[in-house]
Amino acid sequence: MVSNPIIVAMDVAEVDEARRLSAELAPVVGAIKIGKELFVTSGPAIVRELRAAGANIFLDLKFHDIPNTVAKAVAAAVRLDVQMLTIHTSGGVDMMRAAEEAAQKEASHLGLPAPLLLGVTVLTSMDEANLRELGIERGLTDQVEHLADLAVKAGLRGLVCSPLEVPMLRKRLPKDFALVTPGIRPAGPGGDDQKRTMTPKEAIAAGSTWLVIGRPIYAAANPKAAAQAILASLA
Ligand code: C5P
Repeated sequence: MVSNPIIVAMDVAEVDEARRLSAELAPVVGAIKIGKELFVTSGPAIVRELRAAGANIFLDLKFHDIPNTVAKAVAAAVRLDVQMLTIHTSGGVDMMRAAEEAAQKEASHLGLPAPLLLGVTVLTSMDEANLRELGIERGLTDQVEHLADLAVKAGLRGLVCSPLEVPMLRKRLPKDFALVTPGIRPAGPGGDDQKRTMTPKEAIAAGSTWLVIGRPIYAAANPKAAAQAILASLA
């Protein structure tokens, strides 16, 4: 297990709130996830600022474009000194390979460790009817497995997936492959829009490498205490 597998999703629009939460949480979590809303609101400046404050950064922009464009965006993210970032596996093997190569090349050029480039398989908001709509005839699980295999073929070293997909993916992926799972609820199911959840301890036991946790930490009365309690529950 990585020493602190908690990634806190910083799903807040206000830059001041992101600053305040990061200062409080950076010392007690493994990384901070910056998603589309905060990035579109506050741009690369907030990434640099939170990184400078000592946080490991997971830049979750889920790139999906032609290989050349994605490779350049990944290289630009490496220059922001992020430690993890996401691309869509449905962009195809050439796109994923170009992205991984760009991450390695730019990091080596800057003398930085290469970030962990994570592939997103099927979004958890999609069901089989949505896949069918896109002309994909495979079942959901088969499609997740298929995209995971393509990610391995392209040289990626990690995936984002539902904690419920972890056991089946662990059976087919290389041993050191990183699996990053949202849909984590420390208090068990219920309360908001995540339907298929696991507790932090269950997700780690199932084989998750990293846990993405948003509202149970940032919306808690005491975010730092909430993160510390989750870490303690894993011991
Ligand atoms: O607040 P909560 O813990 O539900 O936040 C989960 C985070 O993980 C959010 O940033 C959400 O966008 C992200 N995520 C997810 N499910 C996915 C992929 C990402 O919940 N399949």
